[in-house]
Amino acid sequence: MYASKTTKIIKCLTVVVGHPRVVLLPTLVQKTYPSGVQEIYSGHEPVLLRESLALLDLKPGQVAVDCTLGLGGHSSEILKAIGPKGHLYAFERDERNLKVARSRLEKIGNNFTLFHDNFSSLTDRLRREGASHADAILFDLGLSSPHIDEASRGFSFLREGPLDMRFDTAQGKTAADLLNTLGEAQLADIFFHFGEIHASRKLAHAILQTRKINPFQTTTQFAQFVRETLGKSILPQAFQALRIAVNEELMALELGLNQAIELLAPHGRVVVLSYHSLEDRLVKQTFKQRSTDLRDPNDTFGTRVLRSKSLSLLTKKPIKASAEELARNPRARSAVLRAAERLAQPSL
Ligand SMILES: C[S@@+](CC[C@H](N)C(=O)[O-])C[C@H]1O[C@@H](n2cnc3c(N)ncnc32)[C@H](O)[C@@H]1O
Repeated sequence: MYASKTTKIIKCLTVVVGHPRVVLLPTLVQKTYPSGVQEIYSGHEPVLLRESLALLDLKPGQVAVDCTLGLGGHSSEILKAIGPKGHLYAFERDERNLKVARSRLEKIGNNFTLFHDNFSSLTDRLRREGASHADAILFDLGLSSPHIDEASRGFSFLREGPLDMRFDTAQGKTAADLLNTLGEAQLADIFFHFGEIHASRKLAHAILQTRKINPFQTTTQFAQFVRETLGKSILPQAFQALRIAVNEELMALELGLNQAIELLAPHGRVVVLSYHSLEDRLVKQTFKQRSTDLRDPNDTFGTRVLRSKSLSLLTKKPIKASAEELARNPRARSAVLRAAERLAQPSL
């Protein structure tokens, strides 16, 4: 069947990084935000909220899924829109974010089910809850504010912290683990494919030389190393590449988005907010494939359909944050929204 270039890259790099090991670290799981943080973040502004809600087109009594609960900003409004007769299912890999979101949602209603899980388990989790379809599904990808603001999470090159970068701190390898253990070619692939760094081989070679003497441990240490090896301008790309690899973000997106499309009821809607070109490309390609009939390339007449289209696009061009939103919330700067609607029935 169809396998895009992005799919092939994701598959090859998943083999490199491997599936996360499940390591039980109860002390980490139980960690809570320092006092006051919950209050600060419950006031954070969800990106493209008005536009997302308009496109989800929620109605009372509907079943909605928020694949990236975060601090519950979008979910709070979704819960209000579907009312007490509806049901919200939401996924969040970060246990601490999930806790904050839960207490926000409890103030609105009790008709929700939260999963501390990867949205790549979407179908399985919903089936086990007895839910066979959803009317509206949202993905607001990437990091949440606490990930960037808390040095201890290791996502920011501006703040000194351990090189961690895991959304779920109870499982998987950290960014330091990858830098200190992967082979040169594997590291070069990560920086090339996930950071679009052209000098990825030079960077990978230097990593292997450096780690022999001085293993990578902190964000500022790795940032200084990247600055000295390739220059300051590469820093955002190098950190992005590591983060995507640590959390296997593109693989999760590909799995989750395809499951979401299958799960949608007729006329159900899916809305995706992406924050960098790799995510957006994957969303754009998936929507394009699923809104076009897939024809058999071996059929001489080109008429045999292998898979009928199941989506119609709601955003021919992606939606971006307004100047007004950007003035209030600079983190909306890179957001790109795409949406699609499930067809009432297959086209053939
Ligand atoms: C941009 S934030 C979402 C913010 C949220 N919409 C709000 O208004 O509060 C993205 C969240 O998704 C979570 N996340 C990222 N990838 C995930 C995945 N594959 N499965 C579940 N959660 C994920 C991150 O931990 C982060 O908290």
